[in-house]
Amino acid sequence: METSTLKIAVLAGDGIGPEVMAEAGKVLQAVAAQDGFTLDLKEGLVGGIAIDQAGKALPAETLRLCEESEAILFGSVGGPKWEALPAQEQPERGALLPLRKHFHLYANLRPAVCYAELVSASPLRPDLVAGGFEILCIRELTGGLYFGQPRYTRQENGELVAVDTMVYHESEIRRIAELAFRIARRRGKGLVSVDKANVLDNSLLWRKVVREVGQQHFPEVELKHLLVDNAAMQFIRYPRSFDVVVTENLFGDILSDELAMMTGSIGMLPSASLGAQREAGRQFGLFEPSGGSAPDIAGKGVANPIAQILSGAMMLRHGFGLDSSAAKIEQAVRKAIRDGLRTGDIWSEGTARVSTREMGDAIVRNLGA
Ligand code: IPM
Ligand code: MG
Repeated sequence: METSTLKIAVLAGDGIGPEVMAEAGKVLQAVAAQDGFTLDLKEGLVGGIAIDQAGKALPAETLRLCEESEAILFGSVGGPKWEALPAQEQPERGALLPLRKHFHLYANLRPAVCYAELVSASPLRPDLVAGGFEILCIRELTGGLYFGQPRYTRQENGELVAVDTMVYHESEIRRIAELAFRIARRRGKGLVSVDKANVLDNSLLWRKVVREVGQQHFPEVELKHLLVDNAAMQFIRYPRSFDVVVTENLFGDILSDELAMMTGSIGMLPSASLGAQREAGRQFGLFEPSGGSAPDIAGKGVANPIAQILSGAMMLRHGFGLDSSAAKIEQAVRKAIRDGLRTGDIWSEGTARVSTREMGDAIVRNLGA
């Protein structure tokens, strides 16, 4: 892409968010300087810190900043301090879900990468993960039980009744299926669609639409359907036989945590939540680590910044079509791992324990190396 200024809303949030975000900012600016584009990183308040300083988890000013930006680089939100608040006001439900809905971020990409050098961090038996694995979980993010109406808790016949509703429109399934097929076609290893078609009407529709999209537009991509309970089992039994997995919102929430844990290093995993395409190669999105705010280690300078840094890489690739700059960051991260640098979460005997900042600095040095 020609030199241009990319406007990014940077929402570091709570816990380890600010410290890992500082490293991501450094890496992104270094890549921008090398590759001839300009990043305008503007910070906004979100989460618990926003509750403390501006009265709510997603202040209007932050939303405006996001609207005026071309991408959101998100840290993490939440912590014990805000857990006593009503659910709707807490950082997660008060900021993250509204952001997803407001910007129609319907596609959540969660790559679960188990690096060959880190297979010993995986809780799975070594022979199952030998050589590492790479599974991309694509989760529908704005439909299903998270947002369906009606939704309430009320008294009925002398007891409380809670209702959540699972709703999927054909168009919602179609657009996530198309995206999943496009990505699967590029990677060339097929697509697994996960549902509960033996029980749910939602899943019958899901399966029908996914099958149609495949037959009509992606006949060359091998498509398999798995029931969600079976998928949960197959992942841990045959991790290396999966590549791209697509599923609805709640199943994706659960399975993506399973996949993340299987890699053994949640501090390494980025994610992208994407909305509609604005122009060829450019998509508005929110890019954030898969892990949380880790309040227990916040402020100590020991958190792993790699998930945040790789979220920046996903932003360059999916948000702006800057594939080679993204790949450069990913290679710099791999080199740091190959060189034996480890933050506490992935440290093992015989490797060098480094701080958040030292890891960030090493990755900057590795850029283009
Ligand atoms: C996630 C999280 C969120 C979700 C929570 C914090 C609302 O678990 O991004 O996976 O359930 O989507
Ligand atoms: Mg989750």
